[in-house]
Parts: sequence; structure tokens; C-alpha cells
Amino acid sequence: MTIYYTQRTNFYKGNSPEQLLKNFGSPLYVYNEDIFRERCRQMVGLVDYPHYKVTYSIKANSNLTLLKIAREEGMHADAMSPGEIYVLEKAGFKPCEIFYISNNVSEEEMKFAIDRGIDTSVDSLSQLEMFGRLNPGGKVAIRINPGIGAGHHAKVITGGKKTKFGINTEYLDQVKAILKKYNLTLKGINQHIGSLFMDGSKYLESVKNTLEIAKQFDTIEFVDFGGGFGIPYRKQEGQAPLELKEFGQRLGDVLKEWVKEYGREILFRSEPGRYIVAESSVLLGTVHAIKENGETFYVGTDIGFNVLARPIMYDAHHELELYRNGKLVTEGETITADVVGNICESGDILAKERTIFMPQEKDIIGVMDAGAYGYSMSSNYNNRLRPAEVLIRSDGSVQLIRRRDTLEDLIRNF
Ligand code: LLP
Repeated sequence: MTIYYTQRTNFYKGNSPEQLLKNFGSPLYVYNEDIFRERCRQMVGLVDYPHYKVTYSIKANSNLTLLKIAREEGMHADAMSPGEIYVLEKAGFKPCEIFYISNNVSEEEMKFAIDRGIDTSVDSLSQLEMFGRLNPGGKVAIRINPGIGAGHHAKVITGGKKTKFGINTEYLDQVKAILKKYNLTLKGINQHIGSLFMDGSKYLESVKNTLEIAKQFDTIEFVDFGGGFGIPYRKQEGQAPLELKEFGQRLGDVLKEWVKEYGREILFRSEPGRYIVAESSVLLGTVHAIKENGETFYVGTDIGFNVLARPIMYDAHHELELYRNGKLVTEGETITADVVGNICESGDILAKERTIFMPQEKDIIGVMDAGAYGYSMSSNYNNRLRPAEVLIRSDGSVQLIRRRDTLEDLIRNF
């Protein structure tokens, strides 16, 4: 028997998808506060080492209301750009709670973080030189490539043999020379092997490699291991979640052992994005057309790749639910169809050859696990309006946390 996620989690807390779309327009990102908080807590409590901090990776989702909740839950945050730093400041994060992980940035962008006293990591020798020129005598972090990568798609593997990220270990002597040249102190070392692992062994292996490197420097104040904690995108098929308890235990043991050898307590960090927010959102959209063209049955919706880019970017699988007259459809005739959007490209496919209950016009489709890299990768392509975002609070009330774009927004910058 299929287990429906929104049923199991009481996701809508009595609100019907139909009513939500009536009130806030279709498509719509719907978030659940309880699930979001629960994921924050799981990550914050991952390791029992006392100096372990979770920096939420806000590229996954930077909605201001969610950021405020993440901060309430005790998280810090990482940023990839001045824009992310700006949004974090607006959400109440202090400079000491932000970690700027730069990649190929301009002098202005690097200065943006330095001027605010935000810990900054550089990930090439040339950017380390830039940091030295801009902030001689300062403290800096370097992102190293631990030689191991992991991820759900080649495009999101960021460690290992061929990647634009990080400094390979064979350049550590040059790193030391540049640090000396500019009188810099190496405050931290960070890594990120890639996005989405379901088995923690590669992560742990990379942690060990990075800690080995950290030993070569006696000024280290923190080591940051990056994100990548996966979520099961195939729950209806029974895929299990990440085994956090055992993983946290193993990670904690490695850290405590290292601290003993290093002889001094330091701060350890991880940077989860997806794990925190993916499962806290369902993207709702509407079926507007149904047709058969040749061999293929098409379900035409308003969920184009401007709204959710993951399926076309990475062939990502998102499970679907169908709602009719305010109710989840759990039985009836099924069909294998391509569920498509309304963007004028033939690649605009949300779910290819997917077996679903036979849809009708005006049915509502729910796209599961849409919270991470959903809204944050959405766009105005085809001059479509990005959807609103609403939060179902713990008490079941619904709060608009980002309004839908308006037509005026489309010409705001002209
Ligand atoms: N830290 C760094 C330096 C990163 O580059 C990333 C993600 C993270 C942390 C968070 O990774 P997470 O815990 O979310 O896996 N758009 C893709 C994912 C790209 C991830 C980019 N970097 C997707 O939709 O799957």
C-alpha cells in the first residue's frame, strides 16, 4: 500500500489544497512549520560534541520567515554571495553567525564580507592572494578539496578528481607561503563534497581527510564539513531516511578522537541545506489540460520549470499526489503519463512516464519534497509570475510568507 506523505504527516493540518490555491493562487509553495523545526532540531542535535554548530545553507531556501525560525532553533548560516549575507542580516543573523563561502568572487564581493567581520573562506590560491591584498594580517579560512565527492547528479558533486571547488592538497605548501606573505592566520578549513548522500560513509571519510589536513596548522579555530545530508525522494516506494543516529555517533567519535590528538578544543560545523527544508514543503499546482499525442499521455499543469527547476536540471524525481474536491485521491484508475508544465520548451517535464491516478481538469497536483532548491531556483522565464509561499503554523493557521509576483514586478527594473 502506498503511503502518502501529506497524510502520514498531517501536512495540511486541516487546510485543503483547494482552499489554499483559492486564497493564494496556483501554483503555490506550502510549508509546514512543525516539519521545518523538527529537521532543524535533528541537525542541531546530530553530534554530542559540545562545540558543534549547524550553519544552515540558505541557498536551499532563503525565505525570511524560515530563516528567522532557523535562527530561533539555534542555527547559524552559510552564505555564498553578498545577497545571501544581506538577506541573513535582514533575518537577524549577526556577522559572527554567518560563514561566507566564496567561490570566484570579485574584490567588491570579498570586501563586502571582510568589512562586516564575517568569517570568509576562499577556494583557490588566487583568491587567497586577493584576500591577502584586501585584508593583510587578517584571519581567513580555506576550502579544500578532500579528494572525495558525492551527490545525486554529476552537476552537484563538488569534491574529488574534477571539480572547480576547493584547493587540492598538493597546493598546501603554496597556501602556507601566501599566508606568510600577507601575514594571514588560517582560522578555519572547510569542505563540501556534494549534495545528497544517503549513506554517510563518504562524508565520514572526507571528514577524516580534512581533519588530517587541519592538523598541519596550529591556528585552526574551526573545521566545517559542508552539507549534503540527503532526504528520501522516493518515500512512496518505501525509501528510508538517512540513518542520523548512528551517523551522528560515528561523526562525534571521530571529532572527539581528533580533538584529543590536536590537544585543543575547536569548533566543528556542518552546512545542511536540503535536509533542513526539503521535506517541509509541498508545491501545489493545477491540472489545466489533458491530452494524448501519439503514444504519450500528457497532463498539462501550471508547474513549469520556472517554478521547479530540479526535474529538468538533474532529472530529479519528485513524488506526486493528486487532490480532487479538496481530498487526496488514493484509489481509482491509473495512467502512465508525462506530467508537464506551461513553459514553451519541450523539455518542460515535471515527471516523465509517471504512473498516477487518472487526472481530470481542475485537479490539484502536489509535488513532494519541494522545499529545497524549489523556490530558490525559480525564475520569471516566459514572464511567468513566481508563486507565493505560505506557512502552515503549528496551530494550523496559514501565513503568507512571500507574496506572489505581480505583473508590475516584471517591469520593475526597466
Ligand atoms: N555547503 C556548500 C558549500 C554548498 O555548495 C552546498 C550546496 C551546501 C552546503 C548545501 O548542500 P545540501 O545540504 O543542500 O546538499 N540545486 C541542487 C543542489 C545544489 C547544491 C549546491 N551546494 C539540487 O536541487 O539538488
